[in-house]
Amino acid sequence: MLTLERARATCAPLLKTLAPAERELFDLRLKRSFSDLAEPYWALYGHRADATERFDGLLARLAAAWVDRPDPLRHRDLEVDLEPDWFLREDMVGYVFYLDRFNGNLRGLLERLDYLEELGVTYVHLMPCLKPRPGDSDGGYSVMDYRQINPALGTMADLETVAAALRQRGMSLCVDLVLNHTAKEHNWAQQARASVAPYTDYYWMFTDRREPDAYEATLVEIFPAHAPGNFTWYEDAGRWVWTTFNEHQWDLNWTNPQVMIEIIDVMLFLANRGVGVVRLDAVAFMWKRLGTRCQNEPEVHQILHALRAASRIAAPALIHKEEAIVSPQDLIPYLGSGIHTGKEGNLAYHNSLMVQFWSALATRSTKLMTHVLASHFPKNFVNATWATYLRCHDDIGWAITDEDAGALGISGPAHRNFLAEFYTGSFPGSFARGDLFQSNPLTGDKRNSGSLASLAGLESALEASDDRAVATAIQRILMGHALIASFGGVPLIYMGDELGLLNDLSYLEDDHHKHDSRWMHRPKFDWANAERRSAPGTIEAQLFGGIRHILARRKAMPGFHADAPTELLQTETDGIFAFRRTGPIQPVVALFNFTENWLAVPRSWATAVGVRDFVDHLSQGHVDTPNDVIALPPYARVWLT
Ligand code: GLC
Ligand code: GLC
Repeated sequence: MLTLERARATCAPLLKTLAPAERELFDLRLKRSFSDLAEPYWALYGHRADATERFDGLLARLAAAWVDRPDPLRHRDLEVDLEPDWFLREDMVGYVFYLDRFNGNLRGLLERLDYLEELGVTYVHLMPCLKPRPGDSDGGYSVMDYRQINPALGTMADLETVAAALRQRGMSLCVDLVLNHTAKEHNWAQQARASVAPYTDYYWMFTDRREPDAYEATLVEIFPAHAPGNFTWYEDAGRWVWTTFNEHQWDLNWTNPQVMIEIIDVMLFLANRGVGVVRLDAVAFMWKRLGTRCQNEPEVHQILHALRAASRIAAPALIHKEEAIVSPQDLIPYLGSGIHTGKEGNLAYHNSLMVQFWSALATRSTKLMTHVLASHFPKNFVNATWATYLRCHDDIGWAITDEDAGALGISGPAHRNFLAEFYTGSFPGSFARGDLFQSNPLTGDKRNSGSLASLAGLESALEASDDRAVATAIQRILMGHALIASFGGVPLIYMGDELGLLNDLSYLEDDHHKHDSRWMHRPKFDWANAERRSAPGTIEAQLFGGIRHILARRKAMPGFHADAPTELLQTETDGIFAFRRTGPIQPVVALFNFTENWLAVPRSWATAVGVRDFVDHLSQGHVDTPNDVIALPPYARVWLT
């Protein structure tokens, strides 16, 4: 059995080179988080003969990681212990980008920290930067070595330099950790392919089609267009391998405790280089169960609970962001529910808010958005919050259920189809320019690619040289940013959106990218374009200035601390989206007009939901209430207290 006493005894000799105070700290944290590590571990692996022995091995890795932890990071651990809500605060603002596309590499990033600071960024997510397989690597999500930086981007020493430079500016560093799969070129995979023990147990390998066929009966396809099926045959190995995503991404076998131990070791290695947030990629897929979709199985949450405990013991400054792009019911547990409350992810993508934003923009109706966000989401979480965003490097999947659509008398399939058509621009009257991603003729499922600005109408407006439409597109983009800055959680700005970067079709000329339309919204950052942010009147100046202003106003509003619950409000006026942040300090009522028309809400409505002060804290102007209504111009956003 696993007991705290035994764990202490296992760790003690490994810590003996440390000063007594450092040993004591480890011991206190082990005591605090022991059951959070041991209980899920035992639930997952307790039936195995080697469970206890493996657990000792895990503890040894935790102790070794603590011994290796550099002093400035131990200092950061203490800071985080003292201010555990640091990532929940209203001053948190994230920025997400590819190093090569932003400014070349890690060293290049150092030259651009002033730019990020100017925008108001306090959290920097480097898209995958660990050593990928050669050739197509799914944008770096096919990793062949977790302990090396992609040589095209720099070295591990450069990463440490960047982490330290960010820390000095009060910014934290987020890095991807892909834990559902490795590249088939990873050393573990190569050994497994050559049938070398113990690595054959690191992956899902089958000698014949019996099990793959049985699983396929209920699995869905993630990349049906370019990577159909969930298994790949390797003639040399004489085996089928589980490959949920691309052929070169081999799913790890998390029923093997050694996989957990290896990944925890990698995670702590990265934490000790100065990484403050790990973005745990594609976590929904980690556990397989016959007869299911093999997504969001309860064991996934046990694994994530254990991973979080490991960080809390050996690198407590590290927080976890879990990437699960799933339906609302399945999404909420990633921020900790039931026995995992307060113990699992600290951050998760609010993909439902993102999808509803685009759905409401297209329909000019906020009924479905309000219904979904009001009926499925708790008002707040323990030690966890959303990452709110409008766009990211991935496609938009129209995760709107038939039940939710049905509740409003809409057909789910028809609405999803409409959205896919609208955001390619092919639907009559659409302002959007985008493309389809992975349309699946079997299921009718279609997703979309496209940059924020192009999807929001800037590209079509520029094409038509229509100044009014340009102005409208700018308002849509700013309204969206005001939404993610106030809804609750850490707003993430996706690279270039602050300047209105448009779709980039050059990916079609790249052999490694042309099959994947997501590259159209991963453009190279254009620094000449960025310079125009200081030229008044330019699109860049309006967007950059507007977004910077929104973020600065967010930081001035204590009512936007993530612990302040978000409560959806119903208005009589369709097209308006409204919510209240009901924290103890300065409750805020936020209103958004999702249409190109003037809309109004009665002053009495505002008073009834608690508005006392008819000042918009976003524009810092007085709100007029002629005829006893709050009049909202097209795409308006106001924050009232
Ligand atoms: C995540 C990434 C996506 C990638 C997938 C497989 O969902 O965001 O870009 O394709 O994982 O690693
Ligand atoms: C699906 C998956 C997500 C992945 C994305 C890539 O949404 O759930 O993990 O990143 O597809 O397109």
